Amino acid sequence: MTNLYKKLAAIDERPSPFSQYTAAELWTDPHIARQMLKAHLNPNTDSASRRPSFIEASVNWLQARFNIGPDTHIADFGCGPGLYTTRLAQLGAEVTGIDFSANSLAYAKETAATHNLTIDYVHTNYIEYHSDKRFDLILLIYCDFCPLSPAQRQQLLTVFKAHLDDGGAIVLDVHSLVEFDQFEESMSYGRRQYGDFWTDEDYFDFIYKFKYEGEHVTLDKYSIFTPTREFEIYNWLQYFDQAFLTAEFATNGLTITDWYANVAGEPFDPQLPTMAIVAQKR
Ligand SMILES: C[S@@+](CC[C@H](N)C(=O)[O-])C[C@H]1O[C@@H](n2cnc3c(N)ncnc32)[C@H](O)[C@@H]1O
Repeated sequence: MTNLYKKLAAIDERPSPFSQYTAAELWTDPHIARQMLKAHLNPNTDSASRRPSFIEASVNWLQARFNIGPDTHIADFGCGPGLYTTRLAQLGAEVTGIDFSANSLAYAKETAATHNLTIDYVHTNYIEYHSDKRFDLILLIYCDFCPLSPAQRQQLLTVFKAHLDDGGAIVLDVHSLVEFDQFEESMSYGRRQYGDFWTDEDYFDFIYKFKYEGEHVTLDKYSIFTPTREFEIYNWLQYFDQAFLTAEFATNGLTITDWYANVAGEPFDPQLPTMAIVAQKR
């Protein structure tokens, strides 16, 4: 029998920031992906996508801010079930949606077919995206820059820069230090604390919330034990201030030209938990 003390000690140990990457399991495990799709499509929660009213406001702002029309080439990185891509294609734009969730992409493709829209959906890890296409607008919406390690963020910015047309813009949002300050460490143990989110099987689970003060990083770590398997999900988040984000973009030859509160173009406010940027090639 495995020594229970050793197992508990391992679960209890504080991992070093970004030492494990489990985002693929989180988004592509067939059972979890179905739960995620339900969350994306639930108009009453912001858990996987923001609510429809925000998405409408966001697309309206993007349309006005970037003069989106038939000649606009847009790439939506982490497009999920296509809540933005569908609306952008309805404005006449040439839209590419990139995501590694086959389940969400299947829903997005079905929606496109229903509305008679042509949208290029690409099933891949966006950090490895490669295409001959060049875009006027690159989107990464719902703070998806934050779960990535510093090396992955560098790689993604390199991908963005390589696929940005001259004069094109990147729009993304991130968590701010205001949100970091509100995060509190905790630990809980129980039986099916997340109901059937992880699996239909019975399970016991540990939820650890770790905060890394120096790095401005947090981790929600889920250790899950079912009768047939055990697995761990690591949800890392990097939080940003303006100087840190500016420096990361500059290292990759990108300049942040505008700051907002969110991707609906509301005014930047340092007291808010998120901020959004527009960036261009230098
Ligand atoms: C928080 S959801 C946001 C979805 C969409 N942007 C929205 O706001 O409705 C994150 C999405 O990014 C996708 N994703 C996360 N990491 C990815 C990666 N490395 N490569 C491709 N897709 C990724 C997930 O599958 C998921 O659909």
